[in-house]
Amino acid sequence: MQRILKTSEDGSSTVYSEQTGETYHSIHGAYTESMHVFINNGLSLVKSNKINVLEIGFGTGLNAWLSYIYAINKGLEISYDAYELYPLPFSLVNLLTYKDIYPEKQEKFELIHSVPWETTAKIDHNFYLSKKCSDITVCTFNGIYDMVYFDAFSPDSQPEMWTGKVFEKIFQDMNHEGILTTYCVKGIVKRALKEVGFKIEVLPGPPGKRHMLRAWKM
Ligand SMILES: C[S@@+](CC[C@H](N)C(=O)[O-])C[C@H]1O[C@@H](n2cnc3c(N)ncnc32)[C@H](O)[C@@H]1O
Repeated sequence: MQRILKTSEDGSSTVYSEQTGETYHSIHGAYTESMHVFINNGLSLVKSNKINVLEIGFGTGLNAWLSYIYAINKGLEISYDAYELYPLPFSLVNLLTYKDIYPEKQEKFELIHSVPWETTAKIDHNFYLSKKCSDITVCTFNGIYDMVYFDAFSPDSQPEMWTGKVFEKIFQDMNHEGILTTYCVKGIVKRALKEVGFKIEVLPGPPGKRHMLRAWKM
């Protein structure tokens, strides 16, 4: 599987997948998109100080890293479950520029990546990371989540990730008032989310995208 390092328009790294023909983040700004879709329009709205996060598609670890930084800055405790079927090689991870976002804690970014798959690790006193190398279309999740980062490749290249069956499984494993955010606003995604019971909001998107989605379990 060929994956290539790219630099997005805000200067932060992303990765291009030759298999799907897509980058892991918006080419208009990887850091900017992750902050907008998952932190500012997702995690920051969770009311509890102890938050269980589920990530679909760990990829470069950017969302986990930004969540860790957010937890440190806000004094929150996060248990973070990340699912990824095709982990990136260390040779590529080592080229990512994300450590520069928080240089004082750069060893924690390395730790986030070096934690073995299928284990849970304490990254810091307030951040626990569990990494699972599993296919999310068939696996069962292990938690009850307050926040879900749905960060799969697009429905055009991976339609099997965006089905009612997958969303139903996630919905069942979320707390009341749990939030799911995603960059994708396609009609089939909105319909599938609504059918399993989510309440949908269409919000302004990050640079280069008109909209994004926030879904609530109410
Ligand atoms: C858009 S990228 C994720 C970007 C990631 N959140 C980041 O910040 O780098 C989608 C990810 O989903 C992973 N993936 C693809 N199929 C999967 C599956 N069936 N189960 C779990 N992960 C999958 C890909 O390998 C890729 O890392």
